[in-house]
Amino acid sequence: MSILYRPITLDDVPAFRDTLAFAFGGQLESEEDRDPARFVDLVPLDRTLAAVDGDDIVGTLASYPLSLAVPGRSSIAAAGTTMVTVRPTHRRRGILTELMRRHLDDVNARGEVVAALWASESAIYPRFGFGRATDHHHATWNGRQVRIDADPSIPIRLIDADQAAFVLPPIYERFSLDRAGMFARRVVDWRHMVLRDPPDARGGASALRCAVAGSAGDPAGYAIFRHRQDWSDLGIAAGTIDVREVVGTDDARGALWRFLSSIDLFPNVQHWNLPVDDPLPRRIDDIRRITRSVLDGLWIRLVDPARALVSRSYETDGSVRFHLVDAFVPHNTGDYELTVRDGSATVSPTPVEPELTLTIGELSGLFLGNGGAMAALGAGRIDGPRDAVVRLERLMRTSIAPWCQQVF
Ligand SMILES: CC(C)(COP(=O)(O)OP(=O)(O)OC[C@H]1O[C@@H](n2cnc3c(N)ncnc32)[C@H](O)[C@@H]1OP(=O)(O)O)[C@@H](O)C(=O)NCCC(=O)NCCS
Repeated sequence: MSILYRPITLDDVPAFRDTLAFAFGGQLESEEDRDPARFVDLVPLDRTLAAVDGDDIVGTLASYPLSLAVPGRSSIAAAGTTMVTVRPTHRRRGILTELMRRHLDDVNARGEVVAALWASESAIYPRFGFGRATDHHHATWNGRQVRIDADPSIPIRLIDADQAAFVLPPIYERFSLDRAGMFARRVVDWRHMVLRDPPDARGGASALRCAVAGSAGDPAGYAIFRHRQDWSDLGIAAGTIDVREVVGTDDARGALWRFLSSIDLFPNVQHWNLPVDDPLPRRIDDIRRITRSVLDGLWIRLVDPARALVSRSYETDGSVRFHLVDAFVPHNTGDYELTVRDGSATVSPTPVEPELTLTIGELSGLFLGNGGAMAALGAGRIDGPRDAVVRLERLMRTSIAPWCQQVF
């Protein structure tokens, strides 16, 4: 039977969500999970795609409307590609490929110049032109073994979930353009994602806790975390503070890290998502005590490469000519010249021989400023003389590492 591809209706929401939950090994437990209104709050139905076989939804894809920070403290409209699944009964028949083709056409038609996603597996998306665009550290340390250099006079107070819903968003908003790769949060994102805390999603840890740094009238930062008890060591308290987010001024974040690292009964601290250039390790007196693993974060797909490249700013002037290969969206393939003057770019087709050849995935991975052109040259993923790749690297890289604070 042939597969039909279409956006879903309100009536389809439970079946769409069931297919999605099955793929990730979960199930929809609560009435809230099944509530179509909650789903539509987060994702307008015209941003969904289902693959339908007879009466069954066998493939899913959706996209959040993101306001994505790009280098230069500005933001662009982007598609937050999400909910990508194909039923195990229908895998490896090209259903994801067809969903992705239609999705990228829709993104283009809406005028969003990039798609962005978090990948469950890093092997899935390069074939569709996505490149690894942000990295982060998974960091752990024992708060009893380090001293964190931070201002002890900054007050810290705990607030409950109801207070958090109105105290945290304005703080976040002040910092949401600080790093390329962050995105603005809608009220529904706070309600349904960031502060949503059903008991079955706690993984054995406490409810979400919120701490705010600074004066009550002018809070300068916040942390969201959970307590994870551990008494397995014969009565020795070995609990962990499981940090979800730390946002704010440098001083406020320093004070919050110091606070989180000193909570009685919970000597261990872990954070799944520390920017790779976060100041925290520099505040620690014994750097080897903080263990960090590098993980990929946001993957970017330039859907309209010329418009995307002019939508960000650059820290260095210069120019480079490149031949771009886009096997999945062939009309993007061509020769381009990127010229930066006073931090702003122009991109035009060039009749002059290009200096470099690279794929859309490589260019997409460079878009937010993470760098990596030299490594790509070394790995044979960019073809051209070294001096031209150095120019590309200098043009694209930013002094502050891009980073994405939230999986979606
Ligand atoms: C990932 C998933 C959506 C792929 O769907 P699919 O319909 O089987 O994919 P396709 O048939 O269109 O595959 C297209 C190509 O990608 C490859 N591919 C697909 N999934 C892959 C994976 N997980 N790892 C490596 N390669 C993969 C296929 O082998 C195929 O390669 P080919 O063109 O060389 O033959 C599906 O396996 C799935 O639902 N996985 C579990 C949920 C998940 O991880 N979703 C992603 C969330 S970010």
